[in-house]
Amino acid sequence: MKILGIETSCDETAVALIEGKNGRVRELESLVASQIDIHAATGGVVPEIAAREHVSAIIPLVSTLLGQWTRRPKIDAIAVTAGPGLFSSLMVGVETAKALALAWNVPLVRVNHIEGHLYSSSINEAKTIKFPALALIVSGGHTELILMKGHGAYRLVGRTKDDAAGEAFDKTAQMMGLGYPGGPAVAKAALSGDPRAYALPRPMLNEKNFDFSFSGLKTAVLYTIRNKHLAVEDPQIAADLSASTQTAIVDVLVEKTIRAAKKFKIKTFLLGGGVAANDALRAALAARFKKDLPQVGQLVPQKKYTTDNAVMIAAAGYFHAAKKDFISPLKIKADPNWELV
Ligand code: KG4
Ligand code: ZN
Repeated sequence: MKILGIETSCDETAVALIEGKNGRVRELESLVASQIDIHAATGGVVPEIAAREHVSAIIPLVSTLLGQWTRRPKIDAIAVTAGPGLFSSLMVGVETAKALALAWNVPLVRVNHIEGHLYSSSINEAKTIKFPALALIVSGGHTELILMKGHGAYRLVGRTKDDAAGEAFDKTAQMMGLGYPGGPAVAKAALSGDPRAYALPRPMLNEKNFDFSFSGLKTAVLYTIRNKHLAVEDPQIAADLSASTQTAIVDVLVEKTIRAAKKFKIKTFLLGGGVAANDALRAALAARFKKDLPQVGQLVPQKKYTTDNAVMIAAAGYFHAAKKDFISPLKIKADPNWELV
């Protein structure tokens, strides 16, 4: 089954074509037009500008994508991100998908952006997802543990009470003058740092739920800098503080994930979201699963699929399409606040 994926929820216009078969998905082609440089000039995403950029990028991207083949491949379904995200940006993708579905007379699938991140680990992966499965979604806006009883059957078992893990990376990076996005900068600095240099809290680690909280950690980093008069412009100090911060974040994420994995007796673990690119997190999760739950299959996304892309949207779309879970092009609507669970 060939699925065309379309993603325009924030600042990347992305289209992709995948092949889905027997519970596995494979990328055939993926194109992303990033607006990062445009938004860097204003220090953040301006919704009107983002939407305008999506409008001018989307059709050329679809034609380039389909122009890769001498004969246009037969598309079995179109999957589009309908939320959450910026309303005007989402609308560009949704309206494009709707028009193509009507023009080509192919079924349409409505995908939640978080669901896309969740399925990003299944792309080009030989292992299939076995249920119950547990997904840890860690991005700039989300930190969630989602239990899956089947494809499309989600239950939220834990979430952040305040900041997301990515936000904790971004805000602490800012305090250390490491720039934006903070995650990759903190991860890089941490490579030459001592994770035990500064004692930082592991928020909510000892509470019996699967929720997270990262705002206290952020404050602790701020007070550590102030009270110890840290010269964060000194690369060694920034490295030590980065390593200590990263370890605190990773410790909490791993511990709660393992506890939830044990409680719900999961068969597969999935990782997704921008923070899934973090090597320390990937290594710590792999090591703990190997030690405590070696029988659990681990699906970790290739790094290129941790940032926003349309392959993951098409992948999630494939599992809906396999169940004939389609939506009428006349009924689909962009929903900026759509919560997956
Ligand atoms: O999923 P994403 O691309 O965007 C959304 O928030 O939807 O995630 C972006 C987040 C940012 O907070 C960024 O700092 C973080 O992912 N991130 C990382 C790494 N790469 C990106 N955090 C830690 N380590 C990384 N290597
Ligand atoms: Zn995203």
